[in-house]
Amino acid sequence: MLVAVTGFDESERRIWAGRAAAYAGTFAKLCAHTVPWLLDAAEVGPDVRVLDVGTGPGTVAVAACARGARVTAVDAEPSMVELARRSGAAVEVQVAALPELPFGDGEFDAVVCNFVLNHVGQPRAALTELRRVVRTDGWIALTIWPSAAAAGQALLGRAIQAAGAVRPAHPSPLAPEDDFPRDESGLTDLLSSAGLRNAACETLRWDHRASAEEWWSGPEAGVAFTGQLVQSQTPRTRAAIKNYFDTFSVEFADADGLLTLPHAALLARARR
Ligand SMILES: C[S@@+](CC[C@H](N)C(=O)[O-])C[C@H]1O[C@@H](n2cnc3c(N)ncnc32)[C@H](O)[C@@H]1O
Repeated sequence: MLVAVTGFDESERRIWAGRAAAYAGTFAKLCAHTVPWLLDAAEVGPDVRVLDVGTGPGTVAVAACARGARVTAVDAEPSMVELARRSGAAVEVQVAALPELPFGDGEFDAVVCNFVLNHVGQPRAALTELRRVVRTDGWIALTIWPSAAAAGQALLGRAIQAAGAVRPAHPSPLAPEDDFPRDESGLTDLLSSAGLRNAACETLRWDHRASAEEWWSGPEAGVAFTGQLVQSQTPRTRAAIKNYFDTFSVEFADADGLLTLPHAALLARARR
């Protein structure tokens, strides 16, 4: 199958290029919260052949290995693949990008994707490809961020808005026919429309704890689209965003000075 890479995919490639270390030190810790739920949803256990797509620094892959699974992992970004390889777990990691994977039909018992589908230009085509590489009756489980952000998640966006920062549109948004509602029924319907069975979705909620310095260091280093947005501002506007970030952060601060940041994610699963 030859699949065209969309403008959205190309800009995502640029957003993640060389960001592995910055991501690992910041947002990867946030994304790690959903891993046990994700692996349970995909029924990952001893000897299960698992594919972790968009592995990043390898958090999910390492956790699946710890359950005794036989794990293969891919990521579109070479610096992520390098980092995942250094995780020390018995994981085979290679560079590959949705919606095209270098594996045969039905090679895996389970496929997992932690906060990746929201970074691909053709989500339905990506799911069709995940369906192809999982065996009949095998589970695909994935997480994405919902459009209704929890309070901790909204903190940086509030600071950006309060500072009057110009929010550029995504350089190349998804085509309307490729987009879907980022809620439980929208994600369930997307999985079904990709030919998957028994699709279901739930909302996960947790508190992420981090110091204000650590939480700011992700956007400051340009991690993800919001980070690039912060970096693209004038020094004066960046300073204003930081000031508002510090002001609003106080709402989330504990007695020990750490922030407690409520987050929510959508967890969906379906079978081939
Ligand atoms: C938010 S990070 C999640 C990483 C990891 N799953 C975790 O839980 O920390 C998104 C990852 O998806 C990767 N990615 C983005 N687009 C991709 C694509 N089309 N195919 C494969 N990986 C992709 C990025 O390089 C990045 O490592």
